[in-house]
Amino acid sequence: MGNFLAGKVVAVTGAGRGIGRAVALAAAAEGARVVVNDYGVSIEGAEPTSEIAEAVVKEIEAAGGDAIAVADDISTMAGGQRVVDTALETYGRIDGVVCVAGILRERMLFNMSEEEWDPVLATHLKGTFTVFRAASAIMRRQGSGTLIGFTSGNHQGSVSQANYSAAKGGIISLVRSAALGLHKYGVTANAVAPVARTRMSANVPMELKEIGEPEDVAALVVYLLSERAREERITGQVYTIAGPKIAVWAQPRELRSGYAEGAWTPERIADFLPGTVGVDPMPLLAQVEEMARAARSAKKAP
Ligand SMILES: NC(=O)c1ccc[n+]([C@@H]2O[C@H](COP(=O)([O-])OP(=O)(O)OC[C@H]3O[C@@H](n4cnc5c(N)ncnc54)[C@H](O)[C@@H]3O)[C@@H](O)[C@H]2O)c1
Repeated sequence: MGNFLAGKVVAVTGAGRGIGRAVALAAAAEGARVVVNDYGVSIEGAEPTSEIAEAVVKEIEAAGGDAIAVADDISTMAGGQRVVDTALETYGRIDGVVCVAGILRERMLFNMSEEEWDPVLATHLKGTFTVFRAASAIMRRQGSGTLIGFTSGNHQGSVSQANYSAAKGGIISLVRSAALGLHKYGVTANAVAPVARTRMSANVPMELKEIGEPEDVAALVVYLLSERAREERITGQVYTIAGPKIAVWAQPRELRSGYAEGAWTPERIADFLPGTVGVDPMPLLAQVEEMARAARSAKKAP
């Protein structure tokens, strides 16, 4: 057992499997008391069971740690509140929340139904809001705390998961808003874009070149929850961890600008924009074009 998180109380959503489970186990092993939340659903978000969260609590207890299960759905306000209330009622405080829970409903945009869009946004984006909302009210009063959201490299865009990509982009903006809004109360907020072997990554359509284990991601999360990260004033950041690789994502900013003499008209813009302000090419679009080229030449080959 380490003491990186000694004395802290941490709540982890989606902690029954995959990355969330590894985060809960690692936080407990570093001395945190842990609220293990998991609705216990299939990858699409169906057939809930409380056994998944309870099993992780048993694992933590067997290793000498302290944890409590909450099997609620964090896409509801009541579920998010229950996660935080359980920490307060059981352990008397909340120092960190880690929102890992997620589901997938893959479909091309032109075929996507409301039933494929809404639950994905509700689980990822609203499910981060419900827990951040409940926790930040307490953290504001205590003058300290750490909020961690889970995003994905897919926030850059996705061929067949527009719902997931939109939710993950939203989580980054939510995290940055939390970092700005809670800065004066001593509360930090960061996002993690992991790449790790789980049932979810096994469902990713593209082959992942750089991938690691859930335990690699857990090490980063434990660091972000610790006083060591708080002393460095780390907030408003997005980190990727993929096996041995760790990376920070750029802050969005204007790349190039230009000014009109007088008002812009469509014609002035058409004359001015190309070659000056221009475009910032999408790296993923180049990848999609390359894949289409490879598929065409494979078809032509005898
Ligand atoms: N695995 C990767 O490589 C990868 C890549 C990018 C992003 N992510 C993100 O990391 C997070 C964890 O992914 P994972 O690969 O461990 O997935 P996973 O499917 O193994 O685990 C997700 C857990 O969330 C739980 N969950 C789903 N809906 C819930 C709800 N409404 N309330 C509470 N719990 C709920 C599920 O029961 C499950 O145990 C997700 O947010 C995912 O989008 C993962």
